[in-house]
Amino acid sequence: MKKAAVLGYGNIGSGVVSTLIENREHIARMAGEEIVPVKVLDLRSFPGDVMEKNVVRNIEEISGDPEISLVVETMGGTDPAFSFVKACLEAGKHVVSSNKELVAAHGPELLQTAAEHKVNFLFEASAGGAIPIIRPLVTCVTGDPVTKIYGILNGTTNYMLTQMSEAGMDYDAALRNAQELGFAERNPSADVEGFDSCRKIAILASMATHSFVNFKEVPTEGIVHITVADMELAERLGYGLRLLGTFRRENFRMFARVCPMLVRADHPLYAVKGAMNAVFVQGSKMGDLMFYGQGAGKYPTASAVTADLISCVRHPEGGEIPFTLSETLHLTDASMDRSRWFVRFSANPGKKVRDALGKEGKAVSSAENGFAFITGELTGQEVREKAGEGLLAAYRLA
Ligand code: HSE
Repeated sequence: MKKAAVLGYGNIGSGVVSTLIENREHIARMAGEEIVPVKVLDLRSFPGDVMEKNVVRNIEEISGDPEISLVVETMGGTDPAFSFVKACLEAGKHVVSSNKELVAAHGPELLQTAAEHKVNFLFEASAGGAIPIIRPLVTCVTGDPVTKIYGILNGTTNYMLTQMSEAGMDYDAALRNAQELGFAERNPSADVEGFDSCRKIAILASMATHSFVNFKEVPTEGIVHITVADMELAERLGYGLRLLGTFRRENFRMFARVCPMLVRADHPLYAVKGAMNAVFVQGSKMGDLMFYGQGAGKYPTASAVTADLISCVRHPEGGEIPFTLSETLHLTDASMDRSRWFVRFSANPGKKVRDALGKEGKAVSSAENGFAFITGELTGQEVREKAGEGLLAAYRLA
């Protein structure tokens, strides 16, 4: 029997404890022995809860407990999560985390510490929630360089964009709606400004390249400027707007970014609606893969954490992630990144501007929403220079 402790007994942490209790027999069969939650670290009290009598206040009561071999970190943030996780790894305990901020900022050091102490530091739930994507990138697609990862990695914003495009809600109404349903935080900036997706794509790119991709180097733009007019004209051109975290390898150039992008109606990511997440992965030999599922929520996230715990029991000597991100992968200057663009003007900008932008195919327009079309391959700066003053919006095509 293995004893587990949970750091942070909030939504996800309590979901992990419930899963360990409710699925006890199944987990014992999968792991080869029982996994029993014995302590939770939290400053709050939980009267009436199954763990009511097992709440501890100091990390030393977990890091210094020789009977505990498995630790779950579901606190969020980097401070004190980082020092707590590090202390547990140094004490020879396996640690499983759902915390993308921690992994994106301190992944290399924590993987290194885990390797030195022959334990695992696993974080499947940190990107894509319940979707198995870290492990496939680490172990299943290693025979062929990943050339592209395009992810819908934030459920809140995807839900809002679906409401805007399908229910015609404006941005503020969609945000209120997401908050009422409990998707968006009261302070939603990590979601709507793309910071959450930024950390997740940096983690996925790191796993695909076995090198550290620093989230601070990933240009990030959220959904705050998207209007119903953009979505309406994009749909008429045969595209949907999605907030994508992207990583792309082109020969020796590596690009990553987070921004709203147009996805063609026949692309698998177009079908991803509401709060769902999906990760599209491509390699020249493997072709296209798509991973789809719930990227957030108590039990979906807890299921990925629990599977990582089982992996720790199956691999007691560590090494489940067989690299430490000791090398840093430097991204190519994003200003060199060319793509086709959706551009929307208040009115038809005239032939000279259309030609300068390399307009492709038809244009669409309406009295309320303006005039839009798809450009040729351009950098962001070229679009701004060539479009001139009437430009209302410009989004890259995926
Ligand atoms: N706020 C995130 C989302 C939660 O909406 O996807 C999961 O990281």
